[in-house]
Amino acid sequence: MTAPKGLEGIVVAQTNISHVFGTEGKLVYRGYNINELAGKASYEEVAFLLWNGHLPTQPELDALNAKMRPMRKLTDGGYALKALKGGANPMDALRTEISLLAALAPISGTATIDQAMLLTALFPTVVAAFQRLRNGKEPLEPRDDLGHAANYLYMLTGEVPPENHVKSLDTYLVLLADHGMNASTFTARVIASTESDIASAIVGAIGALKGPLHGGAPALVMDMLEQIGTAENVKPWMDNALANHQKLMGFGHRVYKTTDPRAEILREMARQSSTPAFFALARTAEEYGIAELNRRKPDQRLYTNVEFYSAAVLNSVGLPRDLYPTTFASSRVAGWTAHVLEQMVGNRLIRPQSEYVGREDLKFAPIAQRTPAAVS
Ligand code: ACO
Repeated sequence: MTAPKGLEGIVVAQTNISHVFGTEGKLVYRGYNINELAGKASYEEVAFLLWNGHLPTQPELDALNAKMRPMRKLTDGGYALKALKGGANPMDALRTEISLLAALAPISGTATIDQAMLLTALFPTVVAAFQRLRNGKEPLEPRDDLGHAANYLYMLTGEVPPENHVKSLDTYLVLLADHGMNASTFTARVIASTESDIASAIVGAIGALKGPLHGGAPALVMDMLEQIGTAENVKPWMDNALANHQKLMGFGHRVYKTTDPRAEILREMARQSSTPAFFALARTAEEYGIAELNRRKPDQRLYTNVEFYSAAVLNSVGLPRDLYPTTFASSRVAGWTAHVLEQMVGNRLIRPQSEYVGREDLKFAPIAQRTPAAVS
């Protein structure tokens, strides 16, 4: 039996962590609809929920914060980041530095919640340190009086961020923390299933998230909106892009057949935080893009995905465009690590098969006798 291309519709694991209800446009974390959590729970509370299966009590949250505070510190002074200098892709820098820190820690053996916390604590510190180093500045130590989202912004800028920026980023981090069996989560679970360590699983997941079909899209959304320029230019620009078989960034999803619920929340946040001109451009692009995609491909039911308004929200808190994927990773690490912990319960190696469509009758020829045709 051959699975459909891209494993579409194939169920590869049972999970209690999260689920995407694609036709209803609903996302659930551990029984909570995302609308119950967004804007109410902090990222730390949601990370606890994903790892433990229930929201923390105040003493449980205090204990988590007490553990995570020292874990945010860079124990190697950003060694790999300094070696990479400024020109590296931020996702490559994050992948490399996390790999080094995990090897130094060391993170090994059966995955634990403490290891999940350490990895989650480190992501914003690494991204912020990379950003400062490439701008010729020294990395900043995290502050014990700031939470996860506030620390990220503080370590980037050196200033205590305004409350509205912290709230926006915290909500973004909550919204992106997990999402069913997406490509990077699947990657993490495959690596975990070999009984490799949690850090290796997370480093692999960063690589999977980097691609433009997954977490690399929001910067491309901003590029697209910038190229479009004005609301009046939306129709000719998109018509031309579609005529040239280009994909519209921030549209379409493997599972959602209606608007992504996260996009709806982020849209309202973008409405409040963006300039009226930018929001009008984004909204016009969204409406025209949906209408045109569904006119051209009625069977596909293509709508805006989370990446479309992520770009506007991350832009509004002052993040540079090329740090959007690393910020996405800084959120999703909680989900990845929760999935690794879950995979280890009753683990079985994930090892599918392939359908061999090559030849099986070739004979070895000594190199002097090979012709180009034989090589090919
Ligand atoms: N623009 C134009 N056409 C599209 C788009 C789009 N954004 N998305 C899908 N289509 C079309 C495809 O061209 C294809 O048409 P065809 O059947 O005529 O060849 C059809 O719809 C099905 O698309 P697939 O790419 O096969 O759908 P799949 O489920 O494999 O991919 C994906 C989903 C990768 C998100 C896709 O919609 C896409 O590339 N979107 C743009 C990139 C993007 O926004 N990525 C972020 C995803 S969200 C996330 O990962 C957090």
